[in-house]
Amino acid sequence: MGGVPALRWDDPPEGPVIALLDQRCLPSEEVELVCTDVPALVDAVQSLAVRGAPLLGIAGAYGVALAAARGFDVEEAAVQLSGARPTAVNLAYGVARARDAHRAALRDGAGPQGAAQAALEAARRLHAEDAEASAQMAGHGLRLLQELLPGGGFRLLTHCNTGALVSGGEGTALGVIAAAHRARELRRLWVDETRPLLQGARLTAYEAARAGMPYTLLSDSAAGSLFSAGEVDAVLVGADRIAADGSVANKVGSYPLAVLARYHHVPFVVVAPTTTVDLSTPDGASIEVEQRPGHEVTELPGAAAGTPVAPLGTQAYNPAFDVTPPELLTAIVTENGVVSPVTGAGLAELCNRSRSG
Ligand code: MRU
Repeated sequence: MGGVPALRWDDPPEGPVIALLDQRCLPSEEVELVCTDVPALVDAVQSLAVRGAPLLGIAGAYGVALAAARGFDVEEAAVQLSGARPTAVNLAYGVARARDAHRAALRDGAGPQGAAQAALEAARRLHAEDAEASAQMAGHGLRLLQELLPGGGFRLLTHCNTGALVSGGEGTALGVIAAAHRARELRRLWVDETRPLLQGARLTAYEAARAGMPYTLLSDSAAGSLFSAGEVDAVLVGADRIAADGSVANKVGSYPLAVLARYHHVPFVVVAPTTTVDLSTPDGASIEVEQRPGHEVTELPGAAAGTPVAPLGTQAYNPAFDVTPPELLTAIVTENGVVSPVTGAGLAELCNRSRSG
């Protein structure tokens, strides 16, 4: 990112803070949002100032560290943070990592300061691991694309935002796309605008422009005509939660793309770290999908927020995510490698590689 990192921990004399690049203000302004307590961070998560599965995990872990360092109730902070958004499992995972480090340090007699330090170290470790995972996914994902599309010159379609804005590194799907761009194999990046909150138009286009990628923005409803014109070689998206059977919850609008991709014989690839896989959620139907307020649909987002686009009193259906079943996926790319075809057994084997190691 330009001058403002997606998230940083700072420790000025007044006390520690979490400073976020406020994603609600992009692309017009790079504004830093400073959180001095957990309610401010919860608000930032719920209003999507900070968003995207891996970064939510990192923010959650630093949130626990913030509560500990400022002498708030860490257990209560962990409950508040975990529950801020329900679908991206990374959030609860990141919170649990820092909370468990805090608990363990207290149990070992570290005292409040030592326990706060342990929580902060856990958050920093998760942050660094995510950067490392992102680099590994980029390598595995690029190799997969080269195998699937041996002619090179990829025309890739993506949905939502999955780059450096949501990661300790270069991201998930957009990290793979950036690697393809560096390898001079990206002919065109098709960016879905991603209604209702325009993460594609506001954030992915912003990242693609900064990286000098050849990209074109389209309204979500234009994807079908793009496929039928033969202009898409593969679809790459991220994930918010992957169930044990390989079902993938991701930004609403991903499932229709997977259906389109299958109809047009185009690979549909999900890129996500193993921290997004939740083996305790058995299948897609068991994933809790966040329902968001109707005004996000009945009013314009971004700089024009609040401008109505529907008659006053219109009801809106606004799930933040949808679920794509494993049979529509060509592959899931993780930092540990690729599972293709996507099966529960293959996914568990990939996850267990890091969890046992
Ligand atoms: O509601 P958001 O903007 O947090 O949704 C984000 C997505 O759906 C991303 O595709 C997903 O978190 C993967 S990010 C690497």
